[in-house]
Parts: sequence; structure tokens; C-alpha cells
Amino acid sequence: MLTSMVADHAKWPKENDAIFGLAGKAQAAIKEFGKEVVIDSTLGALADDNGNLICMESVFSVLKSLPNAEIAAYAQVAGQPDYLNAVLKACFGEYRPDAFIRAVATPGGTGSVKHAITNYTNVGDSILVADWFWSPYVTISEEIGRTVTNYTLFNEKNEFNIASFKENFETLLNKQKRLVTIINTPANNPTGYSLSDEEWDQVLDIAKENAKNPENKIIFLVDVAYIDFAGVGNERRKFFTKFSNLPENIFTIVGYSMSKGYTMYGLRSGAAIGISSNEDLVDEFYFSCMHSNRANWSNGTRAAMSVMTHIDSDPNKLSAYEEEKNKYKTMLRQRAEAFVQAAKEVDLEILPYRDGFFVSIPCTNAKQISDELIKENMFVVSLKKGLRFAVCAVSEEKCKVSPAIIKNVMDRLK
Ligand SMILES: Cc1ncc(COP(=O)(O)O)c(C=O)c1O
Repeated sequence: MLTSMVADHAKWPKENDAIFGLAGKAQAAIKEFGKEVVIDSTLGALADDNGNLICMESVFSVLKSLPNAEIAAYAQVAGQPDYLNAVLKACFGEYRPDAFIRAVATPGGTGSVKHAITNYTNVGDSILVADWFWSPYVTISEEIGRTVTNYTLFNEKNEFNIASFKENFETLLNKQKRLVTIINTPANNPTGYSLSDEEWDQVLDIAKENAKNPENKIIFLVDVAYIDFAGVGNERRKFFTKFSNLPENIFTIVGYSMSKGYTMYGLRSGAAIGISSNEDLVDEFYFSCMHSNRANWSNGTRAAMSVMTHIDSDPNKLSAYEEEKNKYKTMLRQRAEAFVQAAKEVDLEILPYRDGFFVSIPCTNAKQISDELIKENMFVVSLKKGLRFAVCAVSEEKCKVSPAIIKNVMDRLK
């Protein structure tokens, strides 16, 4: 009997997505035992204190007021020009780099990751990613015959491990002569870490030093999917100006997403933004990504682009949106602070949290702990190096009690 029909490169383990699987179990527990007693910290989506998905009114009122034709229409392959302009404003704020910049619309931030990896590496290349990372980086790389190399994100003092970054960066670059490195900051998934401006300087100094060799091609993919929930005001956007006037063999791609910042996860909209001191190289980026759009998904979601454009062009809509977003940003910060403080009180080791949707707990038996926590009606994602607790999805009250529950289970399993 035939056991396979797919081509060799398309054979993958027959497994469902672990995170969505666990989220399904949490929902079943809520049905059986009630939401008061279940802690569902699985998905990276903002939920209110009752566990319901937060959908920003200032966003969905605009969506629902769109004429049908604006929802139904195809978008341009590269994205609507007014959308792309609005993306640059929303992404950079007042910190737009002094460089040539072009953007191409993608379905979510995922599309920008796909384009960066596909179009800036050769088959067989390895891309450089921290050892605490968003797993689709690997899925996307492996799908197209690339691999992922990890550097260690934190040193023994729990600071950004610049030595490990440098070592792995230079080893791969010397071998391949081109290197895509993904830096998921601010508000890294899964740790909640954000590189400081000084850490960015160190990273870019390493890149500039290596860029002195004209044979080297260095590509940064800066994944800013969570930027709208990072820092106070726009402080976590300051680093963007550092991509000004870089050597032309350093190319920067910013992976922008509307999923989190506009609570539009399922509407699939984002952009790949190319930044270079050489105009020809951003034009090349634009046409390369446009070609990939046509080849992969043709074009993006027109209604999502229109929402962004309408909010951007109407000061009242924009201020309503900013106000609502800031309300949730504050809510998130309070939850995270409650978790971090409670972790300190019960002596639960966590990784340094600065911003965003998640806090991580390092441990070697994460799957075993996650399984045991299910018995306590707590649902926490297990990763290779630890547990990921989604403060975005859990009320402040529950964030306060969760570290003690986790710590108890960890101690029990020692
Ligand atoms: C680190 C990271 N990058 C990018 C994304 C992009 O998501 P989307 O394609 O839904 O915009 C996500 C979403 O979970 C993420 O966690």
C-alpha cells in the first residue's frame, strides 16, 4: 500500500501545532470547570480579564464602515501605495532612518519573514537566530532548504550575550559570505526581552566591522511584531535611526505586522520594509518581494490595508486608536509587573522581561511541567528551553497567583 504521495521536500512530521493544540485543551477545561478556575496562558493574543479576545473598537468600527467594494477588491500586488506610506509612519513614528526605504505589503509579519529568508539566502544557507525564538523561523527556513543556527540570547548575568552573537555571526558570515540574522525586538517572543539602544550599538558595530570586507553581505531582519506594546511612548522605536547611513553591504528588513498592534490577527496584514543607503538596493528589494508576493499569495487583504489608511488619514480616528491601544498597553504592563513581582516573591526564576506579551521561565523539563500544570488547570506553553507564560491572555489577578503554582509544580518534579 502506498504510504506517501508528496514530493521528498514536502514530507514533514505528522503533527498538529503544539500551541494551538494546548489552547484547545484550555478551552475544553474552561467549558468543563468554568473560566474562574482555569488559567489559559497559551496564545499570543490580547484577552480581557474574562479571557475573551480583545478586538479594538477604534479599529473594527472603521472596518465595518468600509464599503463592500473596498473589502472585496483585490489589492495591488505590492500593496496599496497609501497603505505602504501609512505603514512607514506607524512603524517608525518620529524615528524614521535617514536612508532609502521601500515597503511591500505582506500577509502579517509572517510574510515578511518568508520574503527575507527566501530572497536573501541561498539554498543550504543557515540563518542566525537567538536560542529563545519564535518557532516559525525554523519552519519557514526548513520548508525552503535553509537551516537555523542559534546563538545564546543571554549570558550568565542575564544580559544580551553579545559574545555569543559575535562568534556565531562571524563564523557563519565567513563561511557563507552572506548572512540573514533575525533580531526579534522589542518585546521578544517568548522572553519579553528588548535590546537596549546600547546593545543595538554593539550589534551594529560588529556588523560594520565585518562589512569592511566588501565580499560580505549582511542582512538584518528586525522582527517588530510586538512594537506597539513596548516601552513608554515611542522610546522603543528610537533604535530605528541607527539604520541610517550604514555601509551598503548591510541591508535591513523590518518585519512589520498589524496583527497585534491593531488586534487584527486573522485579517493578515503587515509589510516587509527594506532600508539601505543605496537606492538601487531598496528598489531591488521592492521588486524581489513583489515578485514573491505574486508567486506566493498574489496580494494581501485589501480591507486590512484600508483600515490602516483610514485611521492614518483621519486625526480623530487616529487619536481614538492611539488612546485605545495605550489603554491595553497599560493593562499589559500591569499584568506583566504583577507576574514578575510575584515570581520574585516565590523565588521563581524568570528571564529578564522588558516588554510585550510573554514571560519565560527557564527549565530543562518544560514539557513535563506543562503537562503537570494541566492537572492544576493551568495551560502554559512548553518550549525546548523553558515555559512561555502569555501575560497578554491572563488577568492581573491570575498573573499574581500563577508564579506560585508554577514554582510548586517545578519543586514537586525536581
Ligand atoms: C515573533 C513573531 N514574529 C512575527 C509574528 C507575526 O505574526 P503575523 O503573521 O500574525 O503578523 C508573530 C506572531 O505571533 C510573532 O510572535
